[in-house]
Amino acid sequence: MSRTILVTGGAGYIGSHTAVSLLEQGHSIVIVDNLCNSSSKAVERVAELGGRDVAFVQADVTDKEALSQVFDNHPIEAVIHFAGLKAVGESVEQPLRYYRTNLETTMVLLDVMQEHRVWDLVFSSSATVYGDPRVLPIPESAPTGPTNPYGRTKLMIEDICRDVAAAEPNWRIAILRYFNPVGAHPSGDLGEDPTGPPNNLVPFVMQAAVGRRGSVSVFGDDYDTPDGTGVRDYIHVIDLALGHLAALSHLDNGCREFNLGTGSGASVLEILSATERISGKKLNYEIVSRREGDIAISLADPSRANTELDWRAERALETMLRDAWNWQNKNPNGFDQD
Ligand code: NAD
Ligand code: WQD
Repeated sequence: MSRTILVTGGAGYIGSHTAVSLLEQGHSIVIVDNLCNSSSKAVERVAELGGRDVAFVQADVTDKEALSQVFDNHPIEAVIHFAGLKAVGESVEQPLRYYRTNLETTMVLLDVMQEHRVWDLVFSSSATVYGDPRVLPIPESAPTGPTNPYGRTKLMIEDICRDVAAAEPNWRIAILRYFNPVGAHPSGDLGEDPTGPPNNLVPFVMQAAVGRRGSVSVFGDDYDTPDGTGVRDYIHVIDLALGHLAALSHLDNGCREFNLGTGSGASVLEILSATERISGKKLNYEIVSRREGDIAISLADPSRANTELDWRAERALETMLRDAWNWQNKNPNGFDQD
């Protein structure tokens, strides 16, 4: 069934890939993004890759009047809400900016949706809500306990979603807890383009491989893991995008949380050696001390999404890194090169 979907934050990394998948599956989309962490070129590439026009409104999701106008001007039937700030370290330094942006975008959105009687919502949460996990792999029923302001904004938004769904039975909300999204569109025309030095491992390693960064710092080799470096559940951004489509088509009344991950992990050193092999570039790295707040291992138990959404992450680590490299090599300076 083809629908008109509002994608907030659709110019960003995960939103732009999801937007392409939505177009490919016949949906019409409206993107609202203030471009505070993205480029309008990403929206152009979404339209090119999706082979269809995209309605784009450059606006802040906290601007209620602008958002209401979007709902007045387009027959929105469902919303995927990506817009927000996501850098953990920055959230520690600027907590108020993070609480204000992440909570206010969501509350304004929920308000406007309610006023327009649009009840279908898919929300970008994060595995960071689990904090330091006691059980591996992590099921959705695991205790939550985020350890930084960014993670706390995600958990607060989840609570808000659960509360509005309890108060108004028309709501149909899926909360998606992503593990570590990496990779890029296989065309190499769309990918992750962080501003400034990347905080996350894979974009940093790719920029190092293309010669834009120097040595990679490996944050600790004394964790209780097979090679001593941190292990994460990396998931291809296309698999993640398809998870949003699956969530949309399986929405049910109320609010339900789903882990989106593969269930298998890779260490920092495994990422480095696989990237060297795939790119053919030698990487310099040094072991430095642990990064504050990091955990040893994060692994999803994705069985709820497998069963209830009929979705499974299919792309292997090799494909994730090959696509990430293809994007970086084709666009060494990201979207700003031309
Ligand atoms: P991103 O920064 O690339 O995309 C977010 C987009 O939202 C950007 O285009 C930005 O310009 C826009 N935006 C921010 N504040 C806005 C506002 N007030 N009004 C309108 N637009 C605004 O990030 P991403 O990696 O694509 O992440 C998307 C979502 O997924 C975020 O909510 C993030 O917290 C969540 N998430 C990301 C990861 C990850 O590792 N990338 C993991 C778990 C969850
Ligand atoms: C992966 C591994 C690091 C950089 C973060 C957020 C999380 C979610 C995804 C939004 C870890 C190590 C990293 C580097 C390194 N985002 N590393 N050198 O920390 O698992 O998750 O992004 O929701 O909330 O916390 O991802 O890519 O930063 O780190 O050694 O330069 O790589 O210690 O073991 P992380 P990451």
